Amino acid sequence: MLESKKNISKTNKSLRTKQINEIPSTKKNNVNLQKQIKLITTKKVKPNTNTSQKVYIKKSSLDNKQITKTNNQTTKRYIKKRKIKVKNIIIFILLLTLIILIPIYFLILKPDSNEKKPNNNNQNNDTPPIDESEELDEFDYLKQSLSFYKEEYKNRYITYKEKNPNLDLETVIVHVNIGLDQDFYTNILESPRQQTDLIIVNKYNALDSNYVPQNLETINSKYSSGTKQLESSARIAFEQLAKDAQLEGYTIRAISTYRSYSYQKTLYTRYANADGKELADTYSARPGHSEHQTGLAVDVDNRILSYTDFGNTKEFTWMKENAYKYGFILRYTKDNEFITGYKDEPWHYRYVGVEVATYIQNNPMSYEEYYVRFLQ
Ligand code: DAL
Ligand code: ZN
Repeated sequence: MLESKKNISKTNKSLRTKQINEIPSTKKNNVNLQKQIKLITTKKVKPNTNTSQKVYIKKSSLDNKQITKTNNQTTKRYIKKRKIKVKNIIIFILLLTLIILIPIYFLILKPDSNEKKPNNNNQNNDTPPIDESEELDEFDYLKQSLSFYKEEYKNRYITYKEKNPNLDLETVIVHVNIGLDQDFYTNILESPRQQTDLIIVNKYNALDSNYVPQNLETINSKYSSGTKQLESSARIAFEQLAKDAQLEGYTIRAISTYRSYSYQKTLYTRYANADGKELADTYSARPGHSEHQTGLAVDVDNRILSYTDFGNTKEFTWMKENAYKYGFILRYTKDNEFITGYKDEPWHYRYVGVEVATYIQNNPMSYEEYYVRFLQ
């Protein structure tokens, strides 16, 4: 049933106040109105107060001008509202972007000044050379973590690293501390820890021509070729080793032990004259640089073969497995040739005590490396 004019008028008043917020757009509204008209006239449906304004305007002949004015105001308000909404969306998107970007910046992109730089172990050749200040930072970090880092060698570390980019920094420090950044027999120091079992003698550390071990003792002749002397601790340990080896069916005999400075000089000179200095340096120590002068080194054979063939004997295998139990280490190996400067000598053993020998047996390294890591 259609509403009366009075009711229509009342409804229109109500509409005018409501429509401000409820009419989405004129175009859309017109479509809705058409539908409403159809519904009201044909199906007698009660008009929807949200969208039927024009139906009533039409039917009640209200002032079209006034309605148009109201509609314009409504449209303006709606546009304003839309603008505010769009503005809010933009602000929301901006805030969201900031919320996402700020943590990314702090967590990933911002360089942390306290962060420790990784080693350059895996640095490939495509990586541009790191500048000196970066290198210094890396060594400064190692300074705190490596007890054997030497501040006074910093420039040598940097230079050695540049020449050996594939070496990790810890190895660089070990090598430079040994002296490997310089040629053999240069920058020679006096051997430290003299008159102890842990003395170091090599191509960078020399003994004075007057150096003589304080406790030389003669080895039991059962275990030596002729009269041979070793420092007391080494003599006792060697006799025990040779005795135990013999009990197990192996023959270990001392053929060269303590050698004086002058005797070493005679030997080296003879070899240098025969083979030339360069070759002689690969198997014979220059005077003052031989471990034999410490009284802690012993060359062995098995009485049958020449000492130069000792590496092919079952006694050599026994020594590799057992010498450390008596405090001896195999001093010159193929692996450490570049460190010692000598070709491997399967017959040359050095007494360092059971503790150090056991460590080296379990963690294979040259005595030089052990020395700079733990004793220097
Ligand atoms: N053969 C060793 C290196 C020496 O002469 O002491
Ligand atoms: Zn030797």
